[in-house]
Amino acid sequence: MILLGLNIDHCATLRQARYRSAAFTVGGAVEPDTVTFALFAERAGADGITVHLREDRRHIQERDVWRLRESIATRLNLEMSCTPAMTRLALKLRPDSVCLVPENRAEITTEGGLDVVAHRRRVTKCVDAMNAAGIATSLFIDPEPAHIQLSAELGAPWVELHTGAYAHAYFSARKRAKQFARLREGAARAHGLGLTVNAGHGINYINIAELRTLPHLHELNIGHSIVSRALFTGIEEAVREMKKRMNS
Ligand code: PXP
Repeated sequence: MILLGLNIDHCATLRQARYRSAAFTVGGAVEPDTVTFALFAERAGADGITVHLREDRRHIQERDVWRLRESIATRLNLEMSCTPAMTRLALKLRPDSVCLVPENRAEITTEGGLDVVAHRRRVTKCVDAMNAAGIATSLFIDPEPAHIQLSAELGAPWVELHTGAYAHAYFSARKRAKQFARLREGAARAHGLGLTVNAGHGINYINIAELRTLPHLHELNIGHSIVSRALFTGIEEAVREMKKRMNS
């Protein structure tokens, strides 16, 4: 069974759109509440909750991750850039896993995987610190052979293959087939090196039909499309429907 990690960043995006300066006013009608959202999602079958605490704090705030850490019953996966400040925070917070992602202030969402080859020193430091603390590290990478190989050498137990290029190419049969083949080969290579294979970015209720056939998939991290659907159906139905499509 493929697990679902629900990325709830965009629940916080909606809150910040109105309550940026008073995101945690006690007793105020500050909505939507990220913890309530996560608990409803868990009740519907989400296997873990993922949040990206960005350096620019554009959606998830530090207080969100601490409240989630105390409240959720499944696993907390913290997406973060590999900086000393985020490493210190993760070691204090002790999420169940961290996912190292690239961060670029100008981007709308995470674009492209982490270039572990170019940032080898920084990534190594962070992976070593997490391994020593017993926190599983996932590296969010493009399905490039050199990046997969190095991820295994650095001792990260998981990789999350970036599915954004595939999602982007979805409506062009030729480009999509090419991107899917890259992902399929990447998943096989990562599995062969002993890595647990996750995937994420741009996954929706349509492209899941093909993505779920990737070999060795452990978990998919999905955010935007589930949060979007939740506006119409509620988060519980949105989670149930995605889980059904992932595993039917
Ligand atoms: N996985 C990672 C590492 C991400 O950075 C993101 C987006 O922030 C996602 C998964 C979820 O992507 P989406 O919101 O497109 O489902």
